Amino acid sequence: MLRVGMLTSGGDCQALNATMRAIVKTLAFKTEGKVEVYGFLDGYQGLIYNRYTRLSPEDFAGSLTHGGTILGTSRTPFKELDKPTADGVQKVPAMVSNYRKLGLDCLFMLGGNGSTKTANRLSQEGLNVIALPKTIDNDTWGTDMTFGFTSAVEVATKCIDDIRTTATSHGRVFVIEIMGHKVGWIPLYAGVAGGADVILLPEIPYDIDNVVEAIDEAHADGERYAIIVAAEGAISKEDAALSKKEYKAKLAKRVMPSVAYEIADQIAARTDREVRVAVPGHTQRGGQPDAQDRIFAMQCGVEAAMGCLEGKYGFMVSQRKSRMCRVPLKDVAGKLKYVDPDGEMVREARDLGISFGDR
Ligand code: F6P
Repeated sequence: MLRVGMLTSGGDCQALNATMRAIVKTLAFKTEGKVEVYGFLDGYQGLIYNRYTRLSPEDFAGSLTHGGTILGTSRTPFKELDKPTADGVQKVPAMVSNYRKLGLDCLFMLGGNGSTKTANRLSQEGLNVIALPKTIDNDTWGTDMTFGFTSAVEVATKCIDDIRTTATSHGRVFVIEIMGHKVGWIPLYAGVAGGADVILLPEIPYDIDNVVEAIDEAHADGERYAIIVAAEGAISKEDAALSKKEYKAKLAKRVMPSVAYEIADQIAARTDREVRVAVPGHTQRGGQPDAQDRIFAMQCGVEAAMGCLEGKYGFMVSQRKSRMCRVPLKDVAGKLKYVDPDGEMVREARDLGISFGDR
């Protein structure tokens, strides 16, 4: 009998259930039902406190289209891994011990960057771990794609489309804040798909005067409105020149609720246009997985299950140039995949006339 554990860690996304379903169905099919699956509740917390539920393929009936995670999730910061919990439990030894007590052959971890660091640590402690690249942000190093990304882009694009109609009616400038603190893949893709005039990314610091210039140009071209897509982590050139510490201190004193409001305020101060803000926020992590995410969830789940059946561990499932592959966990842990400011997508967007606010 094969015994495996599974957990979902970090921010949720639309395709978690679809991915777990693919793992469980593949294992059950390939072993002719000779598999026991332990689903740990609320991310690594479930493994720390040995809180789990048994899972079978039937538990995933209808789940292909359900966002969120049936296991629940939580964030267990990597930097606090060696600090005991509030009730004095040493996290890593507890996880290792619970894995061993259940006699698990493998642990499937569906998570993003921070979670992958913890998965690597558990792998170094001798556990058989397989990670699957979950995050709407698509910022996991070592894979072209993460599950959750295309669904989030879909939600963000729909938001831009919806704002466009009201922006047109009123002839307003809209600043739409899209998720992505450190990395701007969602704002880049949704901005292009939604026909934004300006896209502001954490990777390309902006100058507000360039943003205003782009708005003026849009108006000169006959547009009644303008759409600015700003990543949560959009940063001005001035702020990018600060040290990490100085920037953190400045953010702590920010009076505006977020960067979009700050940018809107600066635009309003420099023009006589009406400016509004829209923040779709966590709707970008909600709702159903789109078709592409469901397919990628299937590919990730099958690849992970096959790795386990082959007795191969210590890797993250990945996709490169449309081919599924496996990347050693130690190579992935702690690395982010940033938007390349000189990359193809940014270049094409610039050729189309989209401004990134940097020139
Ligand atoms: O990592 C996914 C993500 O949705 C980011 O895009 C966003 O910045 C962050 O999580 C929000 O985190 P929380 O759900 O803890 O507010």
